[in-house]
Amino acid sequence: MPVEPDAPTPPQTPADDPGFPAEDRDRRFATRCVHAGQQPDPATGAIMTPIYQTSTYAQAAPGDHKGHEYSRVSNPTRSALEGNLAALEGAVHGIAFSSGVAGIDAIVKGGLRPGDHVVSTNDLYGGTFRLFQEVYEPYGVDFTFTDLTDPEAAEAAMRPETKLLWVETPTNPLLRVSDIARLAEIAHDAGADVAVDNTFASPALQQPLDLGADLVLHSGTKYLGGHSDLILGAVCTDADEWAETLRFQLKSAGAAPGPMDCFLALRGTKTLHLRMERHCRSAQAVAEFLEDHPETGRVRYPGLPGDPGHETAQKQMSGFGGMVSFALADDRAEAAQSFIARTEVFELAESLGGVESLIEHPASMTHASIPAEKRREAGLLDSLIRLSVGVEALDDLREDLDQALAAT
Ligand SMILES: Cc1ncc(COP(=O)(O)O)c(C=O)c1O
Repeated sequence: MPVEPDAPTPPQTPADDPGFPAEDRDRRFATRCVHAGQQPDPATGAIMTPIYQTSTYAQAAPGDHKGHEYSRVSNPTRSALEGNLAALEGAVHGIAFSSGVAGIDAIVKGGLRPGDHVVSTNDLYGGTFRLFQEVYEPYGVDFTFTDLTDPEAAEAAMRPETKLLWVETPTNPLLRVSDIARLAEIAHDAGADVAVDNTFASPALQQPLDLGADLVLHSGTKYLGGHSDLILGAVCTDADEWAETLRFQLKSAGAAPGPMDCFLALRGTKTLHLRMERHCRSAQAVAEFLEDHPETGRVRYPGLPGDPGHETAQKQMSGFGGMVSFALADDRAEAAQSFIARTEVFELAESLGGVESLIEHPASMTHASIPAEKRREAGLLDSLIRLSVGVEALDDLREDLDQALAAT
C-alpha cells in the first residue's frame, strides 16, 4: 500500500539525523573534510557517495524501510553531507537546506514567535536583512540592528523578550569581526540563544560552537561548495531541541536540497582545508597590496594589523579568510563601477567563496536591499568594492587590480 508523502514519520532513525559520525570524532579536520559522513557505497563499493536521485523508497510493509522514506524528509546523499558538515563544525547535528536563507528561515520560524525580539549586527548580508525586515517583521518579530563589534552595544540592545542574537562574523561586506565568546555570554545571561553566520570564515577557520554559539548557519553556496556551482544552506547545532525544530521545519516547509547539490557540496568540502589555506594567503597579499596603493581608500581585511577586527580575529580564527573590501580614494559609486568594469581576472558577479576571483559593488548589488541611509550608518561607503579572492596565481590577481587602478 503506498504511503502518503505527508504521513507522520516514525521516530528519527540515524538516516534522518546522521549527526557527527562516531568514527570521525577522533580524526583531525583535514581527514574529516575528506571522509566524515561517507563510506564506500555498500552496494557497489563506489568510493564517492552516489547521487541518490530518488523521491521515494520501497517499503516492505508500512514503516518497514531502510532508513529513508521520502526525500523531502531525508535522502542518503543528503545524510552523508549532513554527517560531514556536523563533523566539520564539531556539532552533534548538521541539517542541510536548499539555500542559506532557507536555513535562516527555518531558525526564525522554528525558534521565534510574534512578540519575540532579535538583536542582529547592523552590517550583514543584504538578503538576511531583507528576510528579517520585510518577511518576519510584518509577522510581529521585532529586530534591533546594532554594532556587534561593541559588546556594550549588544548588551544595551537586549530586552526581556530577546530570544536570539544573530551574529555575522566576519561581516558581509565590511569584514567586521565580533567577539563570539563575549556575545555568547551576553546573550545567555539575557536568556537568548546565539546564532553565528559562519559563511565567510567556514569551519576551516572558525568554530562558533566551541566559542559558545548555539547555532551555526552556512550559505553552503560559498566556501563549503567552493566552486560556484550550487545553492545550499546548512545549520549545525549541539542542541537536540534545535535540531528537532529545524528538521520539523525542513519536513514541513520543504526547503530540502536536491541530491545533486548535496553531492557537489560533499565534493567541495573534501578540499575545503586546502582551498582555505590558499584563499587566506592570497587575500592577505591582495589586502597589503591595496593598502599601499595611492588610488585606494580604506581597506578592510581582518589580517591587516591595523584592522579594527585584527585582535579579535587572531583570538577566534585560525586564518583571516579570502574576502577583502576596500573603498577608492575617489569615493563615488560611479568610480567603483568603472573600476569594476576594467578588471579582467576578477569577474563581476555576486556571490563569493569559489575558486575563481569575483568582484562586486555592494551598494548597487548584494546590499542594495538595505536603505542608503542605513548602509551609510553602518559605514558601507558608496565606492566600497568587495573582492572574493580565488585560488588563481597571485601575481595575476595583483596585476589585474593594478591595471584597473592605474586608469582611475
Ligand atoms: C553571509 C551570508 N549569509 C547567508 C547568505 C545566503 O545564502 P544563500 O545565497 O545560499 O541563500 C549569503 C549569501 O550571499 C551570505 O553572504
